Amino acid sequence: MHFRKLLALLAILLFSVSINAQVYHQNGMVVSDNQIASEVGAEILEQGGNAMDATVATALALAVVHPQAGNIGGGGFIVYLDAEGFSTTFDFREKAPLAATEDMFMDKNGEYIPMINHNGLLAVGVPGTVAGLWKAHQKAGRMPWADLVQPAVELAENGFPLSFALAQHAERYYNSNEDEFMRMFYTDEDGNLLGFGDIWKQPELAETLKRIRDNGHDGFYKGETARLLAKHMAENGGIITEEDLAKYEAIERTPVKGTYKDYDIISMPPPSSGGASLIQMMNMMEQVNWDEIEFNSTEYVHIVAESMRRAYADRAEHMGDPDFNPDMPIDRLISKEHAQNRFSNIDWEKASPSDSSKFGQLYDGKNTTHFSVIDKEGNAVSLTYTLEWSYGARTGSPELGFILNNEMGDFNPVPGLTNSRGRIGSDPNLIRPEKRMLSSMTPTIIAKDGKPYLIIGTPGGRTIINTTFQTVLNVLEFEMPLDKAIEAMKIHHQWLPDRILYEGDLLSPDTRKALKAMGHNLESRYRLGRMMGIIWDQENGVFIGASDSSSPDGGVAGY
Ligand code: GLY
Repeated sequence: MHFRKLLALLAILLFSVSINAQVYHQNGMVVSDNQIASEVGAEILEQGGNAMDATVATALALAVVHPQAGNIGGGGFIVYLDAEGFSTTFDFREKAPLAATEDMFMDKNGEYIPMINHNGLLAVGVPGTVAGLWKAHQKAGRMPWADLVQPAVELAENGFPLSFALAQHAERYYNSNEDEFMRMFYTDEDGNLLGFGDIWKQPELAETLKRIRDNGHDGFYKGETARLLAKHMAENGGIITEEDLAKYEAIERTPVKGTYKDYDIISMPPPSSGGASLIQMMNMMEQVNWDEIEFNSTEYVHIVAESMRRAYADRAEHMGDPDFNPDMPIDRLISKEHAQNRFSNIDWEKASPSDSSKFGQLYDGKNTTHFSVIDKEGNAVSLTYTLEWSYGARTGSPELGFILNNEMGDFNPVPGLTNSRGRIGSDPNLIRPEKRMLSSMTPTIIAKDGKPYLIIGTPGGRTIINTTFQTVLNVLEFEMPLDKAIEAMKIHHQWLPDRILYEGDLLSPDTRKALKAMGHNLESRYRLGRMMGIIWDQENGVFIGASDSSSPDGGVAGY
């Protein structure tokens, strides 16, 4: 990485207007939530790295420049499809610590202690990101590992100019009652708050990244970093130990696969619910006669919402960590027959009830990040990773400089308690030591004739599956250009609570009125999803990238 070149580029980016239209490149492309990170990945591609090399470099750069979700203190998933049609996935979801218990978020009377599973060090799962990137690189990378970590080291050590969006976060945390680590996160060496355009350096994070650069997986899970993290936990009421870190391994898993008409869907299996639910909904969409239904009409919203309701009920009932739930009926859930059964009981005139004695989930992860990569040979990577909420547990060790996740909040906190507000108590996702919490992240690759066609994903907690689903449908069925597919109106229904979230400015009042008359509850949101996508237009030999306009710092880079 040529640091001067990068700084010159940053100056241009910082004061330029963000353009969210489609971007075209011929030799390789990265689309992420942060233009600087996309440029880091694209430069690796230009140096001869492949898609997995660019993925490692982009993910670690995001941990520096997009700290609200980019991370080394969290976890996520990679879906990979190479130009020869070989596909695989890497699961680096966080795990419950060895000392975790099923009732750790309940008081002596068996009552849930509000928000305890989302706040502070007890909410932190054993981080998986470094293990996942290491494992994926060992399998499919080409360039030396150290060269891929180095750009992140330089960004942390030499700093980069704060964007307007990050400067707003900086001010909010500095003036808040958050813990000391977060209040001082966006300050200079004298403790002064940084503003828009100021150079932000992260010396402690740079040292942590150097240990990862020099020692790979063990540079995080053993030695100085593991020791300091375990010490921080022990001194501040956390339960993650050096043993938890030493035992953590990422897992290569067989992708979950389906079809939509002539396309293949390749996505993430459990412990993400994303891939199976996506395939289940696409199977239901195959039953629709689209000649008779217009995009965004009342019928469209009704049928899409009813499909979501059914898929999310199945998700809540059946899904969890496969290593703890060996009998999960994933094959049945993604079968065409199951979709036919589920689809056949949709009433075209009125909304179905969501039964509160059954299943659904309440909390949405507030921040996650997705990026898509393709190299000149046509190898593709779809990566989504997360700290759960924006800035995760909103704490970390000052000596290590990175933010810790609050992913324990993705477990079902109270065994047996399922209610209409969406609290879930089903068995597959109860807390157990070393178990991975259920996720909704849906990094996905759609293939045409065995080659990557659409590489797509998004943040958004429980909404992730649905916004990915609708974007895929927009491209495959409605043949929208990628940027239009990303920007088009999205809805979200998750079984419980029983309501459709919709993008307020994009669904007409008449349609809303008609949906209410059918028995749907409606609730407006400003935006759903923050998609980062690439289409490989093989006919014209071009990669088409688009980043969602709701991502203030997002962007496409390539060559
Ligand atoms: N933390 C959000 C998810 O994994 O779904």
